[in-house]
Amino acid sequence: MEMNEEKEERVFEVTPWQVSGEVDYDKLVKQFGVSLIDAQLMKRIEKLAGSHFMLRRGLFFAHRDLPWLLARYETGEKFFLYTGRGPSGKTHIGHLVPWIFTRWLQEKFDVEVWFQLTDDEKFLFSDTMERPEQANELAYENVLDFLALGFEPGKTFVFSNLDYAKTLYRQAIRVAKKVTFSTVKAVFGFNNENNIGQIFFTSMQAVPAFLPSVLAGRNIPCLIPHGIDQDPHFRIARDVLPKLGYYKPASIQCKFLPGLTATPKMSSSKPGDAIFTTDTPEEIAMKVKKYAFSGGQPTIQEHREKGGNPDIDMCFIWLKYLFEPDDKKLEQIYWDYKTGKMLTSELKEIFIEKATSFLRTHQEAREKVRKELDRFVLKD
Ligand code: TYM
Repeated sequence: MEMNEEKEERVFEVTPWQVSGEVDYDKLVKQFGVSLIDAQLMKRIEKLAGSHFMLRRGLFFAHRDLPWLLARYETGEKFFLYTGRGPSGKTHIGHLVPWIFTRWLQEKFDVEVWFQLTDDEKFLFSDTMERPEQANELAYENVLDFLALGFEPGKTFVFSNLDYAKTLYRQAIRVAKKVTFSTVKAVFGFNNENNIGQIFFTSMQAVPAFLPSVLAGRNIPCLIPHGIDQDPHFRIARDVLPKLGYYKPASIQCKFLPGLTATPKMSSSKPGDAIFTTDTPEEIAMKVKKYAFSGGQPTIQEHREKGGNPDIDMCFIWLKYLFEPDDKKLEQIYWDYKTGKMLTSELKEIFIEKATSFLRTHQEAREKVRKELDRFVLKD
């Protein structure tokens, strides 16, 4: 009996490189030592910035030191935002979640955004990538998806770790000197078989949390919007940065959006699980019809009688967290589906329509920004 309970407690794992099992966010919050965004904090954010559906609907749900950062902001001290992407393949719509929220924060608080492309990381952690250049090329494709969301030139700085290495490395070794192998083992679960680049890597991800302070010659608070899988990196950064004389970075963290086949975090490698930002309307429709996990009943008659379950239906979940910001419209869909008035095929059509039109606009913006990259990229 006791053994079963113990077994049940360990059914999920979240690291920056792997998410498996059904994630229990309450347990994860305790495990990682982050704080939940409570009603009071939500109100405080809303007072300063207004309401965003990703916050309102509980997708952004945890943080570190956010009240501290807001208190500084309220006394006139501006912060900067820092987020990033590990270029291992095409961008999927899950990656867009923290970036859309970051863009909103930039607009509302009128602050700088620093965006790191960890091509070094993806080379070091990949079993199949033979040359760092492969990750570097992907970095400049992935960054188009970030910039397509409308970030402001002059206030948005994007850089690949390989191409901005001279600046980053000088700071990374300051971090590395304060992190022991045993810390990295404990935080990431590494062992003696990990390559030494992997062991060093977290120091590169720490750098943008204080680089703007180094360059400005004064301390500037940092807020990192990200998926909760990245938190272990920033736990280390928060430990080390004060030892170098900088503020601990604050963070605001989101849950994962599941994949179409109901994986806990959208997966690029599982067939039909991810919708990529470059997918055609035909590809989107095919994936949704063939793979999207449905909360509907097996037959139309049964569905009309018993109703569907929107809470486990991938099309509904993605409308809720990304494609339908309008609360009233979302609620209508929820009840129509739950009472059996709306069929699974109809819900899928709504989703396909929304996703296709969202991605059409995105793909246009993506190509436009390709020609303007120089306005954003830092290299040395
Ligand atoms: P990467 O490329 O794995 O993911 C980029 C960002 O997307 C988030 N994310 C998701 N969020 C919601 N639903 C999903 N299904 C989903 N999948 C991924 C990730 O949590 C992440 O925020 N090492 C990092 C790159 C990085 C970074 C940073 C990320 C460098 N500096 C600072 C965040 C903040 C990486 O490989 O992310």
